[in-house]
Amino acid sequence: MLKRITADDWKIIENGFSPETNRFFESIFSLGNEHMGLRGFFEEGYSGDSLQGTYVAGIYYPDPTKVGWWKIGYPDYYAKVINSINWIGIGVDLEGRHLDLAKGRVRDFKRELDMKKGCLSRTFTWIGKDGQETRFAFNRFLSMADTSIACISVKAVPLNYSGNITFHIYLDGNVQNEDTYYGESFWDEVNKDLNEEYSVITMRTKKTDFYLSAASRFKLVVNDRDFQTKSQILQKTGWVGYKTSHFAERGKSIEIQKFVSVVTSRDHEKENLEKVAIDKLAAAYRKGYTKLFNEHVRVMEEKWENSDISIAGDIEAQQGIRYCIFQLNQTYSGKDPRLNIGPKGFSGEKYGGATYWDTEAFCLPFYLYTKEEAARNLLHYRYLQLKQARENAGKLGLKGALFPMVTMDGHECHNEWEITFEEIHRNGAIAYAIYNYTNYTGNESYLFAGGIEILIEISRFWAYRVSYSQRKECYMILGVTGPNEYENNVNNNWYTNTIAAWTLEYTLESLIRIGEVEMNRYRELEKELDLREEEKALWRDIIERMYFPYVDDLDIFEQNDLYMDKEQTLVSDLDPKDLPLNKHWSWDRILRSCFVKQADVIQGIYFFPERYNQEEMTRNFNFYEPRTVHESSLSASIYSIVASRIGYRKKAYELYLRTARLDLENYNDDTEDGVHITSMAGSWLAIVQGFAGMSVQDGQLKLSPYVPEKWDGYSFKIAFRGRRLKIDVKKNYVEIEQIEGEPLKISIFNRGYHSQTGKAARAPIQE
Ligand code: BGC
Repeated sequence: MLKRITADDWKIIENGFSPETNRFFESIFSLGNEHMGLRGFFEEGYSGDSLQGTYVAGIYYPDPTKVGWWKIGYPDYYAKVINSINWIGIGVDLEGRHLDLAKGRVRDFKRELDMKKGCLSRTFTWIGKDGQETRFAFNRFLSMADTSIACISVKAVPLNYSGNITFHIYLDGNVQNEDTYYGESFWDEVNKDLNEEYSVITMRTKKTDFYLSAASRFKLVVNDRDFQTKSQILQKTGWVGYKTSHFAERGKSIEIQKFVSVVTSRDHEKENLEKVAIDKLAAAYRKGYTKLFNEHVRVMEEKWENSDISIAGDIEAQQGIRYCIFQLNQTYSGKDPRLNIGPKGFSGEKYGGATYWDTEAFCLPFYLYTKEEAARNLLHYRYLQLKQARENAGKLGLKGALFPMVTMDGHECHNEWEITFEEIHRNGAIAYAIYNYTNYTGNESYLFAGGIEILIEISRFWAYRVSYSQRKECYMILGVTGPNEYENNVNNNWYTNTIAAWTLEYTLESLIRIGEVEMNRYRELEKELDLREEEKALWRDIIERMYFPYVDDLDIFEQNDLYMDKEQTLVSDLDPKDLPLNKHWSWDRILRSCFVKQADVIQGIYFFPERYNQEEMTRNFNFYEPRTVHESSLSASIYSIVASRIGYRKKAYELYLRTARLDLENYNDDTEDGVHITSMAGSWLAIVQGFAGMSVQDGQLKLSPYVPEKWDGYSFKIAFRGRRLKIDVKKNYVEIEQIEGEPLKISIFNRGYHSQTGKAARAPIQE
């Protein structure tokens, strides 16, 4: 693919338009504000190849499950966040010729995503058949200040002629998903209404009965002055719009400003929904474009203030990490515990906008270190779904709770047996997130409230799911898929056995802690959850006698039983033409090979660094990394962090670049489906936990930072136990500046330093 993204600190810039890369750039230029989002498709429409996606968080459709209906326990449906009302539509006719970048000629095309301000602009000159040239500037933003509001502006200047320009400003509910099975529509129209002041349309989803109202109003601005205009009102099923024409003089600008509000029955009463949309629109219209934009930019600034990482001396790395932070903040900010983070956010249909283990294993720490409230809401999201997780375990004939691998509302909604039934390791990541939150914040209130219930139910699940081998006198977990999805139905996946035994340990420790601090709560739990001594004794026995596969001659953990019986080859032995394997090899061939899709044993080592010494980590890394193809976007960041821990700095940096610029470089050749939001959190961690070596042990913040060779330095901010700290890493020293909160003792390379407001603590960096 042609590489056309210009390196820049704060911007993603595309120069020149090419239809072949249109879908790729539509993904890259996605915008969102947690409530809603859309791909970077064009306002005026486009007759070439495009995936026109506009999504609203939490609005999904249960598509019937097509595979496996004959097997008991299969989910009833595959849930997907669906394409919803296209509210950006502004068709443009120039003297009767329809603007369409797939037709005519395009000159000086430039698209720019300003990540600091959170807005997208597009400028170009379009040359029609008879040589008429018109210069265009499109701008859009989705307000972060009022997330139901979005604004678009289109400015046209006829360069070598004067003539009529006609705009069609519309809301279109006749949209479909590209991945729909039978080309069906997921929406029905409920109502529409339009007059001189506003147009509004309400659609409802089939089956799930979500209502969505979008309202819009426009303003004509001629030569930068508001202009009263008459417009024609148009409507058809699922569609409302205005048509307005204006005579444009050569060299003079004519602009349409479109204001939109989008609200749903998730947040408002159905009966009132239309009125809410109209009222919000009216308030936005009164404020006007500039004021709305300024309000939005102020919220963006706050977000950057808390979560930016600044890198000196490497503009590509800087652009890469800012792109990741930008997209994470666009997708989720933790205001609503009913929402979560889809692997593609608002940037495409793949993964259906559903929640995966990615949230707990990858995204949670990003929010934990930058905005604790958001992390807490992510935990709460699972608590709200505990009932369904219990039902889910029951459906499979098991006890306790099994959280789904893929979900919209707490029910499992994925339909591949090796994922739905076998990737049970996700239950462990949910338990680990509770530990992660409690360990980092020192705040035990979540653990003592909902957290412990989740831990008990997950422990029950593990205790029921293990098999006791009479022959070997130990506990095993049979028939699973580990994080490495390139092996299915394996026995004793080392990672799964590790996280299962660890959950049992952590649950028992937490119960002891609750007993010490709040005996009443402990008694309450015993009663409510029927927790008995025999059950805890069984958990202890499982911890003691869990089986962990091991390769004695190499002194490493074996990924699962029989892994070492596979033919052992390395990624470097492969013909590069075969990569990525998932695009060139049959599934059967992949499953039989030793190639690892993503961190598996290394994921376990990453989670529990205090358990393994440097030599153990290094031996396992040396063995598994050369066999890993990193064909999950989630892989490189974890390997990068472990590489930093064992002093493999070059490798850590190489893997960091792979994760931070994964989409900008299209490394996995799939960015056109959408960008990899959840793996972006891993990129952030590769700097903070990897290069800066940050961790919290026994309540103390620890750092062991270094600067990658190519960089001059980097800095980031974290929130930690009521404080805000700026950590500035230079080649020879690190400085900790206390921005808010009480003085803090920090351990840097295992020596204690005190940070206090107004005075940066400085520690030398040892080589
Ligand atoms: C990975 C999973 C991940 C999913 C969604 C898959 O390719 O193997 O671990 O949960 O993508 O990101």
